[in-house]
Amino acid sequence: MTKTLIFTKFGGPETQQLIDRGLPDPQGAQVTIKVQAAGVNPADWKIRAGQMGDHWKLPAPMGREASGIVTAIGDDVEEFAVGDEVLGLAAKGHGTIAEHTVLNARQTVAKPEELSFADAAALPVAGATAYDVTHQIELEAGQTMVILGAGGGVGLMAAQIGQVHQFNVIGIASASKQQLVEATGATFVESGDGAADRVRAIAPDGADLVIDLVGGAALREIAPVAKDPQLIISTADPDTATQLGGAGVQRTNEGLTKITDVAEYGLVNPNVVERFSLQEAQQAVASVEDGHAAGKVVIEP
Ligand SMILES: NC(=O)c1ccc[n+]([C@@H]2O[C@H](COP(=O)([O-])OP(=O)(O)OC[C@H]3O[C@@H](n4cnc5c(N)ncnc54)[C@H](OP(=O)(O)O)[C@@H]3O)[C@@H](O)[C@H]2O)c1
Repeated sequence: MTKTLIFTKFGGPETQQLIDRGLPDPQGAQVTIKVQAAGVNPADWKIRAGQMGDHWKLPAPMGREASGIVTAIGDDVEEFAVGDEVLGLAAKGHGTIAEHTVLNARQTVAKPEELSFADAAALPVAGATAYDVTHQIELEAGQTMVILGAGGGVGLMAAQIGQVHQFNVIGIASASKQQLVEATGATFVESGDGAADRVRAIAPDGADLVIDLVGGAALREIAPVAKDPQLIISTADPDTATQLGGAGVQRTNEGLTKITDVAEYGLVNPNVVERFSLQEAQQAVASVEDGHAAGKVVIEP
């Protein structure tokens, strides 16, 4: 048995429960891990709220990303052995907000020694997404990348990747996140009314890439700073981005390996700012559901 956070039906936080649940042996290309840290993402509550379809089998375990120690491997796993330290994405039907979970070995990589388990747990979803969204349109050094929602889990890592490539990074976030955003090397712009004008004051020629991590009205206001609408890429609201002439992020298989390499060399810090125990898992999800996370929220069972 393993303690796991589940939700029992689509709805609000009251549908969540920490329960004891059986853990099946890993099948095929799966590995079982003792979870050392699990990252919390907006997708966790969006799935529970029914915003990402109704095809999830209920009760559904929560959490997509984790780091931990391999305790068992499936028959098709050659790249990992019991005792290995890894990070990766949950296998279908499993959740990472748990004492033990099952990962998809094809979406799992070795944890570099240089990375803590907490930092490693922030990479499979948020880190890999930051990698993908900053590489979907290839920029050159000196070009301007605007990040809407720069102070959150994906945004801070996207800003650091932009710095590595020597882009001119402009990070839009609320005033409370100014220091966090500036610590990445990005130029900070306060979010809210007039944000587009504040960006134009810094980048009068416009942006070569607008990364949207917020969507909705905030995206509509910022969109005109792009030199061309096709230069808008959204993780948060692909529909609005597409209506405006941009696109949703395309996730890749290489994103996880690449972001792990970059983090290993110390070029990207996942900015874990809040840590919770498994008993406090519901508070951890609430902290992300609040919509104003600064950096990453991690659960350490
Ligand atoms: N498609 C995918 O594969 C994929 C993968 C990962 C994430 N995502 C999506 O990408 C989005 C970002 O994820 P995340 O993990 O970075 O979320 P997060 O850690 O919760 O950060 C979201 C950030 O948005 C900012 N924000 C909220 N309202 C804003 C507004 N009106 N104007 C400017 N900033 C605003 C918040 O900062 P302030 O408090 O400063 O406003 C917060 O820092 C989410 O919608 C998530 O579901 C998609």
